[in-house]
Amino acid sequence: MLFNVRFLIILKNSENIIMGKILVTGGVGYIGSHTVVELQQSGFQVIIVDDLSNSMIEVLDNIAAITGTKPEFEQFDLADSSLTADFFSRHPDISGIIHFAAYKAVGESMEKPLDYYRNNLLSLINLLEGMKTHRIGNIVFSSSCTVYGQPDELPVTESAPMKPAFSAYGNTKQMCEDILKFTVNAHPLHAIALRYFNPIGAHPSALIGELPLGIPNNLIPYITQTAIGKRDYLRVFGNDYPTPDGTAIRDYIHVVDLAKAHVIALKRMMEGRSRSNPEVFNLGTGNGFSVMQIIEAFERVSGLKLNYKIVGRRAGDIEQVWADTRFANEELGWKAEKNLDEMMASAWKWELALAKKDA
Ligand code: NAD
Ligand code: WQD
Repeated sequence: MLFNVRFLIILKNSENIIMGKILVTGGVGYIGSHTVVELQQSGFQVIIVDDLSNSMIEVLDNIAAITGTKPEFEQFDLADSSLTADFFSRHPDISGIIHFAAYKAVGESMEKPLDYYRNNLLSLINLLEGMKTHRIGNIVFSSSCTVYGQPDELPVTESAPMKPAFSAYGNTKQMCEDILKFTVNAHPLHAIALRYFNPIGAHPSALIGELPLGIPNNLIPYITQTAIGKRDYLRVFGNDYPTPDGTAIRDYIHVVDLAKAHVIALKRMMEGRSRSNPEVFNLGTGNGFSVMQIIEAFERVSGLKLNYKIVGRRAGDIEQVWADTRFANEELGWKAEKNLDEMMASAWKWELALAKKDA
């Protein structure tokens, strides 16, 4: 209760404008940068901590170009406990945290599992220590549909059991959700874990978007890089799945829709409207699309023919998953708005903008 009172004092000034400084970890990255834009446009002041291990500092200028405000920024590794403790001591005005900072490459996590456990678990633990010490009440955590594995029933609801993880990365997300669960039980903290399905696309301004370093692992950047000529052809991993066209099915969601859900989740906690602690929400559209449907959508919106070849299944891939979004729709009052063609068009616009910059 102490925490909600503390927040309410920060929350509203006489004009009813939302105040309070929000720490966004990993805010220079793909989803973080889009969320910083939505936070700033909703009246929040933002401070970003990012070690730039998977992002570029220029993103801060691009956020400023969209919102008119350059967010405060500090560069350090959140897995370092003394740097993180020092950060909190220097920033007593933080009223909430959105925690994106993590390593996220599934394949790499199988080659370097300890790097993934160290980075993803220690970052969260150090933040929770800071919250406990400085009485910061609220954290939104980036989780993933990967915690479900291949669900027994589709669409998958938040109460579906977590299956043994397919990757060290997926296991870190399961473990982080457990860490949150036991920590909020022991201390006066509130948490919301958001389980993202497959985030794609870019901001409509094409000033920020996904910046995959090296060869992309994910489908959409691989498609757009093939179409722009950076890759020879897309490999479609498997057409022998038990799906209508044989290719695997996912629930793709526009990154701006996803970003908006973070602002809603944060306000929900800050205003004391959570019904349980931690709360967990699926963030998807509720629609599954196959790899072939994604290729067709890309060809439709770009007017191009995509060069692709069917190859064998990728190890560790599940066959199909899409979200039951009713809980997020009803409880958060949030619904993904962008359809597949809009998502693919924004991803293509972003790739064209990157090509223009490189030229
Ligand atoms: P991203 O790599 O673009 O962003 C993560 C940011 O965190 C990067 O800017 C990186 O430099 C920073 N970072 C990493 N470790 C750090 C550390 N120890 N200290 C400080 N900064 C650190 O990734 P993203 O796609 O924006 O993903 C954000 C979050 O969402 C991650 O937790 C990821 O696991 C989760 N997630 C992503 C997807 C997806 O498909 N993109 C899906 C589900 C969940
Ligand atoms: C989508 C579909 C591939 C590339 C990953 C993580 C998951 C979450 C989201 C973080 C699959 C197929 C892909 C290619 C292809 N991230 N594909 N050719 O695997 O659903 O999920 O990102 O939490 O944890 O595992 O996403 O974009 O890699 O693949 O045919 O070159 O596209 O087989 O069916 P995925 P993806």
